Amino acid sequence: MSFDEIIDRKNNFSAKYDELEQKFGRNDLIPLWIADMDFKTAAPIIEAIKERADQGIFGYTSRPDSYYQSVCDWFEKYHDWRPEPQLMLHSLGVVVSLSLLIQNFTCPGDKIIIQTPVYYPFFDVIRKNGRILVENPLLKVNGHYEMDYADFEKQARNGAKYFLLCSPHNPVGRVWTKEELSRIGEICLKYGVRIIADEIHADIVFPGHKHVSIASISEALQHNTITCIAPSKTFNLAGLQASLVIFPNMEERNKFDNILGVLDIKRNSCFNLVAVEAAYRHGREWLEDVLKYIEGNFKYINEFCKKNIPEIKPNYPEGTYLVLLDCQGLGLDKKALHDFMVNKAKLALDDGFWFSNVLAQHMRLNAACPRQILVKALQQLADAIHVLRTQNDKKI
Ligand SMILES: Cc1ncc(COP(=O)(O)O)c(C=O)c1O
Repeated sequence: MSFDEIIDRKNNFSAKYDELEQKFGRNDLIPLWIADMDFKTAAPIIEAIKERADQGIFGYTSRPDSYYQSVCDWFEKYHDWRPEPQLMLHSLGVVVSLSLLIQNFTCPGDKIIIQTPVYYPFFDVIRKNGRILVENPLLKVNGHYEMDYADFEKQARNGAKYFLLCSPHNPVGRVWTKEELSRIGEICLKYGVRIIADEIHADIVFPGHKHVSIASISEALQHNTITCIAPSKTFNLAGLQASLVIFPNMEERNKFDNILGVLDIKRNSCFNLVAVEAAYRHGREWLEDVLKYIEGNFKYINEFCKKNIPEIKPNYPEGTYLVLLDCQGLGLDKKALHDFMVNKAKLALDDGFWFSNVLAQHMRLNAACPRQILVKALQQLADAIHVLRTQNDKKI
């Protein structure tokens, strides 16, 4: 399969394309924002869905043990951790799970720690559920984001009840090492802070880095952690609404199962059922190929910016396909930067300030697209910067 193929998503009912006007106020933008891929998923997944469609009966779905087994096999093979299938539940999405966990496993007024800047729904699932958000800002050391353990310990000592971990981290692109996770995990254990680990990007990890599930590090951390995983980023299946939650014990697993039952969102859908199992059983080769392609995109972005637009400094993600562009060199505030990207460069990107004000002069670019789209997008950016430079020269 060639990832260079540009697939017209105009009839794909794609949020990334069809919501441009609503989100950015115009339609003529290259969409590099919401985190899905512009690539077709792996052939075995498409085949499994077609076969299921050909059956023609789409009644209530029963999820067989083999569904959970396929996830456990994948985790054992690629992440050196075999979760217990009976401690797992299917859920519609990771954000759904995070919100339900916070609503039902914490109490109003509980303090919950997040490491900012971070995936912006983390703010909403805490605040909009009436819990207190506690920020443990990441430190930028020599251009590399690190955890601030001293500050984390202070917040843990101050009575935080839960820690919402983003691992690998969106948007800073870190794949936390075992040492880092052990250290933060030890603090949680010392102060009785429970962990909810969002590991949706677990499989989007580049050479030289390895995803470690925090629950796999020790028995104590396994008992202290609820892990949310999904094949949606890995195989570009976000529209199928499939994710899983791994609990530390049957009691919590049954409590969550009951919540899903009350909402009547336990069973369906019949398409994600076959897609997920096919993905975890037969999708590895496709994943390895797509990761190589995306890495090529990272290289292209970095080389292009260095050579042509040094005002923009992209990172080189260890994990996730989301590139953080440091745009401080443009000297624009967050509103002007947004306006510049949309109305001058004609790009739809995630604004850095959505993740935290510390990223006010940053943008996040989704690099999971054919290279030619990036070539065009970066050229548009370079042209817009050229005009900006000329205007600035005239002012001087
Ligand atoms: C860290 C993180 N969690 C969750 C999600 C969304 O997951 P879902 O679509 O399963 O709710 C994303 C999507 O970008 C993400 O980056």
